[in-house]
Amino acid sequence: MQQCDGKTEYIVLDPDSPDADLIRRAGEILREGGLVAFPTETVYGLGGDALNPAASEKIYAAKGRPSDNPLIVHIADMEHLVPIVRELPEKAVQLAEVWWPGPLTMIFHKTDIVPDETSGGLPTVAVRMPNHPVALALIRAAGGYIAAPSANTSGRPSPTNAQHVAEDLSGKIDMILDSGPVRIGLESTIVDFTEDVPVLLRPGYINIEMLRKILGEVRVDPGIRNGAAEKGVRPKAPGMRYRHYAPKASLTIVEGPRESVTGKINELAAKAMDEGKKVGIIAADDTASCYHASIVKDIGDRNTDKEIAQHLFSVLREFDAENVDIIYSESFNTPRMGQAIMNRLLKAAGHKVLSVP
Ligand code: TXA
Ligand code: MG
Repeated sequence: MQQCDGKTEYIVLDPDSPDADLIRRAGEILREGGLVAFPTETVYGLGGDALNPAASEKIYAAKGRPSDNPLIVHIADMEHLVPIVRELPEKAVQLAEVWWPGPLTMIFHKTDIVPDETSGGLPTVAVRMPNHPVALALIRAAGGYIAAPSANTSGRPSPTNAQHVAEDLSGKIDMILDSGPVRIGLESTIVDFTEDVPVLLRPGYINIEMLRKILGEVRVDPGIRNGAAEKGVRPKAPGMRYRHYAPKASLTIVEGPRESVTGKINELAAKAMDEGKKVGIIAADDTASCYHASIVKDIGDRNTDKEIAQHLFSVLREFDAENVDIIYSESFNTPRMGQAIMNRLLKAAGHKVLSVP
């Protein structure tokens, strides 16, 4: 065990069999209203007691997050769902049977025991049962309910390892639990069950086809469709409205046939470097060697969802540390998670896309 600085305790925990005494201590911090960052299978979360309004206020303060952007309540056992939701649609139960614990968040009408501070003033609550032994043990040790947004400073890419968390939150929270890199690397899929038909609010590891297989009809929130931002259509999930995951540099996505993309990016990069700019490029492993720029990052195999999803947020963070001025990225429409990957990349780019013939 080591101390990161004056205030934040930094603890390394085995991801598969975390030390019970350390979990108990982290749980006590949460029961007393403190904040503990912890791993999940998607990204690291910044946890506080979801039923304690003061703890939720501390989460907003530590992240610098607007307090109208609601938090996800994390549970470890199905019986903890009933007290916090007004009704439980049969379809949601079916989805939970397949995907909980897992990278799925569901939205329900909330009961009064969920404070407005946790739900961002909304009458609804987002609930998730994460699939990670440390997260599940911590939730139980904390009394059953942990409110946790991603453990990043508001506006920065979500943290996929504990060093990312420390970068953003050291000195601002009580404890960081480090169990190494996460498995998925993108935040959970969010499905809203408060309307007559389930609505996808945020794509993730579980894609729309996988949802429809279990639920039948599922709508996609018009606010997350391609081009919605340009048309001024607002996403229903408040957090999806903000420019998010954004690196400090200006990021542009270039899409089209492979040779046209490499040619165009090289041309743009050469021009920017002539102007004295530091240029970064994000490319898949089959094209990375075609580029000439200050820094070229190989994000992985373009046909392997897992690699691209796992690397995306850390690549964006690395560019911040390297102080690049301009980033050009290929687009990554991988077979399964492509929708989620492009959703995050488009937001990081502020929807700047250049299509080449
Ligand atoms: O994978 C994840 O979901 C991670 C890990 C830590 O569990 N958490 C996460 O939380 O990504 P956060 O706060 O970064 O994103 C939650 C999203 C935000 O866009 C928020 O606006 C939306 O969920 N949300 C939360 N409650 C909602 C509600 N009642 N109605 C609509 N959207 C909601
Ligand atoms: Mg977040």
